Amino acid sequence: MNATIKLEKKHFPVLLDELISIISPLYGGTFIDCTFGQGGYSKKILENRLNKVLAFDRDSETFYVAESLKEKYGKRFNFENIKFSEIDKLNLKKEKIKAIIFDLGYSTSQINDLKKGLSFKSKGRLNMELGRNQFSAHEVINKLNQESLVKIFKFFGEEKMSKKIAKQIILERKQKEINTEDLVKIIDIIKKKRKTKIHNATKIFQSLRIFVNQEISELIYGLIKSFKILPKGGAIIIVTFHSLEDRIVKFFLKNYSENSRSSRYLPDINEKKILLKIKNKKPIIPTNKEISDNPSSRSAKLRYAFKLNHLDNFNEFEKKFEHLLNIEKLSEELWKSYL
Ligand SMILES: C[S@@+](CC[C@H](N)C(=O)[O-])C[C@H]1O[C@@H](n2cnc3c(N)ncnc32)[C@H](O)[C@@H]1O
Repeated sequence: MNATIKLEKKHFPVLLDELISIISPLYGGTFIDCTFGQGGYSKKILENRLNKVLAFDRDSETFYVAESLKEKYGKRFNFENIKFSEIDKLNLKKEKIKAIIFDLGYSTSQINDLKKGLSFKSKGRLNMELGRNQFSAHEVINKLNQESLVKIFKFFGEEKMSKKIAKQIILERKQKEINTEDLVKIIDIIKKKRKTKIHNATKIFQSLRIFVNQEISELIYGLIKSFKILPKGGAIIIVTFHSLEDRIVKFFLKNYSENSRSSRYLPDINEKKILLKIKNKKPIIPTNKEISDNPSSRSAKLRYAFKLNHLDNFNEFEKKFEHLLNIEKLSEELWKSYL
């Protein structure tokens, strides 16, 4: 069985109909699919002959799916194995960009691929790299100091037992390097028994995945750079899967949109330049039918806006999430250990 067939089998693109109803009025131009994955969104957009798709994914294994689309659609489809924060490195001047789409996180095939180490069922060396990474969860757990680990677990996983877990990791790694099973065991012992259906290690695994893939800076700079590339009238559409990423997206869209004023009683001079127009104040979420067909869609939230005006300076956005960006910079400690 070839990789493409195997990977495509169980894939359900999340909120696909909702996405298509937002972008179909814009058909006839280039759509940027920043998170190609199994190509669910790209394929649907390419069904319309007037459309071109430029797709990215940081995971080089998605290239197999991309190749099959290239064969079928030729010049109407292009794929780049890059991170979406690198969007500004491409020459997109000739493209008539209509929308830039992000479907964040990872796909079912990535979690089922045990060598990526995203699942608690994985064995051996810790990993969690989605692709084009500089370090893995192995270095994070076995090299970073206790204080840094606490911050990662607390802010990226909202794990209440962060301190105890970090302390135990430091203690145990004096004896031997910690692998995936060891980490799950440490968390299980500290958190004792499961009170909910959620696995004890869920929050710690999430925090490590965010840190290893630098997902906060990817999202913040991915949004800023995409916004700068998007022409006026174009759409920016983001599907998030956890509260941290949704908070960032919500702030970005609301802060720079029509209705964002610090106070409605302040005079006009205090109004910020309006950059975006939001149609739906509340996020679009999956129907009960979609959730029963594809339970992993249950936490998805789709937010979108249309660009009204340009802006070069996004200091306010960066400042708002500076504390999270600084936690990602703790990875610099890992470079120091190589010097
Ligand atoms: C939820 S899946 C996308 C599924 C896709 N919409 C589909 O219909 O098949 C998310 C994908 O985004 C990719 N990804 C995550 N972060 C990325 C980043 N910073 N840059 C590029 N790709 C990224 C992952 O490798 C994964 O393949």
